[in-house]
Amino acid sequence: MKNLELSIDNVFKFVSKDSIFDLKDKVINIIKSLHDKTGRGNDFLGWVNHPSLISEEEISKIEKISSEIKNNNIEFFVVIGIGGSYLGTKAVYDALSDNFIQLKKDHGHPKLLFAGHNIGEDYLSELLDILDNKKYALAVISKSGTTLEPAIGFRILRKHLIKQAGEAKAKDLIIAITDPVKGILRAMVGKTISNSFEIPPDIGGRYSVFTNVGLVPLAVAGFDIRTFIKGAKDMQKQTGPDIPFEENPAAIYAATRYSLNKTHKKIEILANFENRLHYLAEWWKQLYAESEGKVGKGIYPTSVDFTTDLHSMGQYIQEGERSIFETIISVKKTKRKMVIPEEETDEDKLNYLAGKRIDEVNKMAEKGTIKAHVDGGVPNIHIELPELNEYYLGQLMYFFEIACGTSGYLLEINPFNQPGVEEYKKNMFALLGKP
Ligand code: PA5
Repeated sequence: MKNLELSIDNVFKFVSKDSIFDLKDKVINIIKSLHDKTGRGNDFLGWVNHPSLISEEEISKIEKISSEIKNNNIEFFVVIGIGGSYLGTKAVYDALSDNFIQLKKDHGHPKLLFAGHNIGEDYLSELLDILDNKKYALAVISKSGTTLEPAIGFRILRKHLIKQAGEAKAKDLIIAITDPVKGILRAMVGKTISNSFEIPPDIGGRYSVFTNVGLVPLAVAGFDIRTFIKGAKDMQKQTGPDIPFEENPAAIYAATRYSLNKTHKKIEILANFENRLHYLAEWWKQLYAESEGKVGKGIYPTSVDFTTDLHSMGQYIQEGERSIFETIISVKKTKRKMVIPEEETDEDKLNYLAGKRIDEVNKMAEKGTIKAHVDGGVPNIHIELPELNEYYLGQLMYFFEIACGTSGYLLEINPFNQPGVEEYKKNMFALLGKP
């Protein structure tokens, strides 16, 4: 199997190679401390070795329930969750699905729909319209079991399901994915919910895509979770504590972004040239924003979809304040092939492209963009995936997780808590008169 490839050649115009490689002992010690669980927030480091610890029994349990759901002719599987309890699933689902999956009739697996990630009255009403008279099942995912957005979504959807399928059947069509012992959701298991899966207490939401949080809905949607885990496991090895800095892509990525930040590059833009990766960037933004953004520190993570956003954000990236750097995720091979046809009259003057693959044009746009942005003062980090599949997404997501933990420790903060998220909740609950 090939690996994702990281290139930092386009940052050396802005930070010296030495300033990055001088960090190597520090970074390797940090990676050791993540594995030894000796650093800040060490009660939330279960994710570091998790991919290699997932048992055959756990995978079989997931596969069993997903084939039961499929055999039940379920059309939609509604994933109710917010933040780390839904973004990883949405990222993989979108990255690996047909672009127009929701319009496909005989897809062969239940389609995923998402709820509980907003407080949208219209959103929920319109979702119920879609689910009226359809066969569907619910996964309610919340580690704490107390988050308001999914709790409201679950109450509304469960009521709808009961009305449609009856109380006993509805109970069997609901899966709770939550803490093994704590929380309101866990207390509902056995009473109003028949099926449940556990979220390890030592794995926080944004690091949980390789737990039941991501694996259950992805298996139900028909994806090969064994290969997804294998990708993560291989990246776990490739970024392990015994791997030299020069051979560890996550160590190099973390050291590079830290060095850029030291030169007042305050914003990292994750860019893709493959629109299926839009939600991968949303997942990445949560991972880095909640992990790094605290005590007045952290690189602000944002994202763009190219070439679409070259016609909007591209202007700022090219000529705006020079406090940004860019990380591009490039996909080498497309799933499909399409060639630009020759036209006899050449009315639209496109014959100079005739015979070229669409992806060849996209790749030239990518090359041209990187050169323009680097020339314009934007350092560029490049990550190339051989193709979009379960294996390389497993690699990529584990790579970002371990690099994020490393980045947090380089900033001397705890990357595994999110105290700032509580502030809006306090105000909202006071305004709502929560007892
Ligand atoms: O990363 C995190 O821990 C958070 O973003 C959570 O995933 C998010 O707040 C949802 O929490 P819960 O799963 O407890 O409902």
